[in-house]
Amino acid sequence: MIEQIQKIEEEIAAFKVNDASEVEKFRIHFLGSKGLIKGLYALLREVPNEKKKEIGQKINDLRATAETKLNSVKKSSKTNVHKKLEEDLSKPVEENSLGSHHPLSIIKREIVDIFNKIGFSISEGPEIEDDWHNFSALNFPPEHPARDMQDTFFIQKGEDEIALRTHTSSVQVRVMENNQPPIRTISPGRVYRNEAISARAHCFFHQVEGLYIDEDVSFADLKQTLLYFAKEMFGEKAEIRLRPSYFPFTEPSAEVDVSCTICNSKGCNVCKYTGWLEILGCGMVDPNVLESSNIDSKKYSGFAFGMGIERIAQLKYKVNDLRIYSENDIRFLNQFKSEL
Ligand code: DAH
Repeated sequence: MIEQIQKIEEEIAAFKVNDASEVEKFRIHFLGSKGLIKGLYALLREVPNEKKKEIGQKINDLRATAETKLNSVKKSSKTNVHKKLEEDLSKPVEENSLGSHHPLSIIKREIVDIFNKIGFSISEGPEIEDDWHNFSALNFPPEHPARDMQDTFFIQKGEDEIALRTHTSSVQVRVMENNQPPIRTISPGRVYRNEAISARAHCFFHQVEGLYIDEDVSFADLKQTLLYFAKEMFGEKAEIRLRPSYFPFTEPSAEVDVSCTICNSKGCNVCKYTGWLEILGCGMVDPNVLESSNIDSKKYSGFAFGMGIERIAQLKYKVNDLRIYSENDIRFLNQFKSEL
């Protein structure tokens, strides 16, 4: 046993430690829970009683020697690190890689900037909404089948049922409740629908709502505003066409197509060989909606429109799978650089 202790003592003295990983090796080899010194303590049990004290003391001394060496090599390996750092000071600093804006943020900012230029301010509303702002004030009567146009996530809160907003049209109502015309505002934000997630549908996405109310606002104003938007967004050659449609909160209502930017209206699989791509819904604000928010519908008229940000991004970036926008795949996100 005494020989064994001596051998380990020599081994400790001979052990060369040059860097931090070897410090750790040293500690584990001699002082670790399965290390040599622990092993000696285990053997101590078999030593005859009259020798136990003497040998026990020797093992204690051995442990102290190992610990002293460990502390001193720890210190000197730190000094080594400092030395290395000093040497490294001349090396050029490694650049931090810069993050990029999310493609949907870039498109949102572009849309907002385009409308800011013609005097639209920005407004926002809550994502958790009540029935009034999401449906009733927008002329969706209770039980009306138009409510099914948008599959809604409902949340029961005590007696009340609240919902995740299905569209940013709810912000129109909030703006009208709190302001008298002239109103010229756009409302970007996230909306939710109870849809199975696929390449073409998602349970959340983003919209920008527009609202303009003043005296004598006409359908011609709406058309011209949207043509201006299309040209700013898709280029001077862009054209629009309006198709009659139905929304409870606008009358008349229309859906707007922009000339296909991918094939220059020659026909491709994205525009399904029609030369047109649907980009938004719009119309003249229904007088019922104005009156619900205490705006005099005899004095004022207005138009509204709503577009999907993902839809515009799809057309600008030719990214067709909706899911990829929320997967946070850095290989996808890194492709979008903007000055914004
Ligand atoms: N809120 C509609 C939707 O999510 C889009 C929309 C259509 C908004 C017509 C409008 C509008 O303001 O006038 O499908």
